[in-house]
Amino acid sequence: MESHYPFALPPLPYPYDTLEPEIDAKALCFHHDKHFAAYVDNLNKLLKPYPAYHGWSLEQLCQNWVDLPDEIRLGVRNNAGGVFNHDLYFRMLRALPPSSPQPPLDGAIRRTFGSVDDLKTALKNAALSVFGSGWACLCTDRHGNLSIQKVANQDTVLPLIPLLCCDVWEHAYYLQYQNRRADYFDAWWRLIDWPQVSERYAGLLQSRPPIP
Ligand SMILES: [Fe+2]
Repeated sequence: MESHYPFALPPLPYPYDTLEPEIDAKALCFHHDKHFAAYVDNLNKLLKPYPAYHGWSLEQLCQNWVDLPDEIRLGVRNNAGGVFNHDLYFRMLRALPPSSPQPPLDGAIRRTFGSVDDLKTALKNAALSVFGSGWACLCTDRHGNLSIQKVANQDTVLPLIPLLCCDVWEHAYYLQYQNRRADYFDAWWRLIDWPQVSERYAGLLQSRPPIP
């Protein structure tokens, strides 16, 4: 993902039919090529007339939108968040077979939630209890402490660091699962690329060593 304006749609890191049958090619194509693309396009359109903000990173835009001019503030909040959340969403999925968390993430999950199954239950409860559109995320702080967070619309969990985020906007599942958000969650859970999520966690710990 580009650090600054103009942002570009990251290509889907796998073929459209890779995630079938959990997420079918049509649903995946619409989600990535239409919805994700629209957030990228809208963000660029909003920022184009404001060169003063072309040097801002995506994370800066997500966290500091309150400092932007009135006329683009809400638009940037929604669209920068949409870009940030979707970028991670697609990158942390992969084709079956299912994988499992690796050290040191697996230990952190056991200490925080009890087990991977307990994490799944907690994250699923969060995903099902988002009212309307939003996200349920497994996050870490800069010390490596895990938590589950819910955000509405396209807000982000920043300054917490998301490791994994489940998109519970209807556009993520309605084409294939209609109103069955729980079934979509279970399917999404089977697609998590745990080696990559684990690597992300380990990398964050290395760059932000825990403070004693
Ligand atoms: Fe989405």
